[in-house]
Amino acid sequence: MTFTVRAPASSANLGPGFDSLGLSVPLYTTLRVTPQDVTEVVPLGPELENTPADESNYVYKAMLLAAKRAGQDLPPARIEIETEVPLARGLGSSAAALVAGVVAGNELLGRPLDDPAVLDVTAREEGHPDNVAPALFGGIVVATLDKLGTHYVRLDPPANLGVTVLVPDFELSTSKARAVLPREYSRADAVHALSHAALLAAALAGGRLDLLKHAMQDYIHQIWRAPLVPGLSDILDDAHKHGALGAALSGAGPTVLCFHDTREDTARLHTYLHGVMTKNGLTGRVMDFPIDTAGTVVTRG
Ligand code: HSE
Repeated sequence: MTFTVRAPASSANLGPGFDSLGLSVPLYTTLRVTPQDVTEVVPLGPELENTPADESNYVYKAMLLAAKRAGQDLPPARIEIETEVPLARGLGSSAAALVAGVVAGNELLGRPLDDPAVLDVTAREEGHPDNVAPALFGGIVVATLDKLGTHYVRLDPPANLGVTVLVPDFELSTSKARAVLPREYSRADAVHALSHAALLAAALAGGRLDLLKHAMQDYIHQIWRAPLVPGLSDILDDAHKHGALGAALSGAGPTVLCFHDTREDTARLHTYLHGVMTKNGLTGRVMDFPIDTAGTVVTRG
């Protein structure tokens, strides 16, 4: 019987939570899987026109990862793939594809893997859990990856917390944005990072929206990546003067995420963000979203 798997986009890091903190954004990658005698991989829509329509597709490889972890062979199926997640923009498009694929493979096999195993497979494949954990569980997730496993706490988003994303019309690969980071950091930078990451996790857990702009300060990755994202430094410094509760580079960029209070009008923030783009010769979209709370959803029929 046909089933559908829908996995959301995500925004990782949120400033100092580098490789460990992320939230789920309601833009989706959807797989429609129909068991049949042969495997067919069918990417649909303009976003996926350059992705392979065969077993080298990343989604299919992700399905094989589920089979490998379960120690089983993947049964053949027709797999239709669609996405509304912009690619290479720091919104977790590869994590959504990976999570959707592993969940679909697991479903096709009769669900031999539980949720922590699915998280561990996907986090090890990505190398960090900050996109895959919110893509899988929804909400806001704090997660670590170590030799023993992937450990996480999922938080329901605080009341009245929404996100505004500026998605520029250019791509930035995660590998390029990781290559500019230093190999070593000073003790002062480490203390700054861990204290702010801890404060941010506590502020999100406790609904302390007033602390976000302080807690989201980061010197681990954003200052090094700023030259790759025109306007980022201005937004990090000034967005709170235009209605944002805090701002961060979304994942490895180039998307920039601002938090807003959903009880307030975001028109002023949008005008400011469009102005930053214009000043820097960029085009792009500015959109408001709630934080997705469902994570990856499987529907039968
Ligand atoms: N934490 C990762 C990074 C997210 O910032 O490089 C990218 O997927």
